[in-house]
Amino acid sequence: MKDVQLEEVDEGIFSCLGEAERRSDYDKKVDAYDFIVGNRFYNRIVWGNWPSEYREFCKQALASTPGGTYLDAGCGSLVFTASVYSEARNKLIVLLDRSLGMLTKGRDRIRQLKGRVPDNIKFLQGDIFDLPFREQVFDTVASYGVLHIFDDKTGMLAEMERVKRPGGHIFFSSLAGNNTLGRHYLEMLRKAGEVAECHSSESLARALSAMPFQYEINTIGNMAYGRSA
Ligand SMILES: C[S@@+](CC[C@H](N)C(=O)[O-])C[C@H]1O[C@@H](n2cnc3c(N)ncnc32)[C@H](O)[C@@H]1O
Repeated sequence: MKDVQLEEVDEGIFSCLGEAERRSDYDKKVDAYDFIVGNRFYNRIVWGNWPSEYREFCKQALASTPGGTYLDAGCGSLVFTASVYSEARNKLIVLLDRSLGMLTKGRDRIRQLKGRVPDNIKFLQGDIFDLPFREQVFDTVASYGVLHIFDDKTGMLAEMERVKRPGGHIFFSSLAGNNTLGRHYLEMLRKAGEVAECHSSESLARALSAMPFQYEINTIGNMAYGRSA
């Protein structure tokens, strides 16, 4: 960890943020998020993906290094990933999010599945643009469904790269306006202040090509799946 002060703010959930910074807009949206975004038909119809595809990508990220250390930055309420993380063994899994509401829901999901939070899973409130870790400490750094929120995509990925060890892996997914429905929906979300400027998988790849890191981007429907090349 960087030289930060950690405080346990709820059972098994730590924060490295000062008390005045601990609120997030997402705290109020947890139930609505899970209800809408967690719906398999919403994902299939609007984004062209079944949730099983999100889980599969997460499994690939976990499998990218045997054992070791893994960070999910912007893990949310684990609406898609709780079942995957609850079964992961021999790996330190750090689940970081800016929203305590999301983290609490995620922790409760893991508890429901396992009866308790396994020792290898840690919940941490923090900022993806200022990760509270020293350089090169994670074997894999992942972030699912977060990149489309921010205009500063290269800044977010650069910070993820900073905490990844040399030879480690980055995995990310992002909503992408690859068809008319996806573009319209993303534009609606942008006007509501939920996401940044809309990208297709192709324009996202172009924007990231300016970075000193190389990513391979695959597309399913209106979702771009990226990983270190
Ligand atoms: C669209 S949700 C995705 C959540 C989860 N990864 C998923 O796939 O369901 C975006 C998440 O990013 C978190 N977030 C927003 N800004 C953040 C920041 N600066 N640092 C860390 N997490 C952030 C939100 O709290 C929210 O949980």
